Amino acid sequence: MPNYILKFTGSCFIDPPVEITRLRLILTVMRGVCLVGLLVNLNGVIASTGSVSVLDRGFLYGDGVYEVVRTFRGRPFGLDEHLTRLRQSAAYLYMDVPWSDAHIRTEVERTLRQAVNDESYVRIVITRGAEDEISLLPGDDIEPSLTIIVRPIAQRMVLSEAGVHLQVSERLRTDRRALTPAAKTGNYLNNILALIEARRGGADDALLLNGDGEVTEATTSNFWLVRDGIVHTPPTEAGILHGITRYFLLQLLRERSIPHRETSLRPEELQTAEEAFLSSSVRLLMPVARIDDHLLPCCPGPLTRLLWEGLLEGMEAGMQAVPPPR
Ligand SMILES: Cc1ncc(COP(=O)(O)O)c(C=O)c1O
Repeated sequence: MPNYILKFTGSCFIDPPVEITRLRLILTVMRGVCLVGLLVNLNGVIASTGSVSVLDRGFLYGDGVYEVVRTFRGRPFGLDEHLTRLRQSAAYLYMDVPWSDAHIRTEVERTLRQAVNDESYVRIVITRGAEDEISLLPGDDIEPSLTIIVRPIAQRMVLSEAGVHLQVSERLRTDRRALTPAAKTGNYLNNILALIEARRGGADDALLLNGDGEVTEATTSNFWLVRDGIVHTPPTEAGILHGITRYFLLQLLRERSIPHRETSLRPEELQTAEEAFLSSSVRLLMPVARIDDHLLPCCPGPLTRLLWEGLLEGMEAGMQAVPPPR
């Protein structure tokens, strides 16, 4: 056993099994302490907190991009797919990402190792950076900033039996021609306002429509419903984030030959849904119990349960998106 451990436990001459038991105990206590906190990796420096300049454009304008990944058995799940989308979002904002995917992966893994959580929520944020001039137009020499935030999340993944209550929002999803929902930018005001309004209306989350009156998605998840045994989800053309979980679910539906359609949905069609659920990297699948006044006949429904099991099996098997999401 290395010396520093003996010194740390304050005992050099006791029985090794006792020593190991003590060491385990200390590690468990340390882990308990870490579980209540955050770890922040700010441009390579890992600490329990981090400070960003007030001149950072992420702070001033939400001028940046981000991804949220969860770990599964301690490893970030779908990281390649999230990094692909991060790069696509940055390209949409005419933003350079000077770090390779390999570098970001290494930094994520380094932060996770230090966090010693059983399972973690990982947020990767790239802002366009800070400069002395406060101006809408970024300077040519501005240098982006990379932040990785790691925090503990529940280890056990369980499908909610209660489900959520969605309210069809009067606030429209941002038009693709204005700021495409396909880019995961730091500007989430559209979703924040819809969520506040849904909560004020007594619902858990909002379901947003686009300018053509079609269903798009919830504030931080993609939307699915089942009607006549067919799984439906709005197409990317409706103006949605091209969810990584959505992509994995579509892959699963294809592999298992479960009838499904990426199709435009009108709000009145929600009234005839047999089951509905949301998908996202953190929550995986969240059954929907109610949409406005319509109580879903099944929550969670049989297809929701089947896809939940399939998704967990895929995660266990290290499922990857082939080809990567658009
Ligand atoms: C608006 C929106 N739609 C959908 C999703 C789900 O995407 P993913 O499955 O990649 O987490 C998110 C996730 O944060 C989101 O913010």
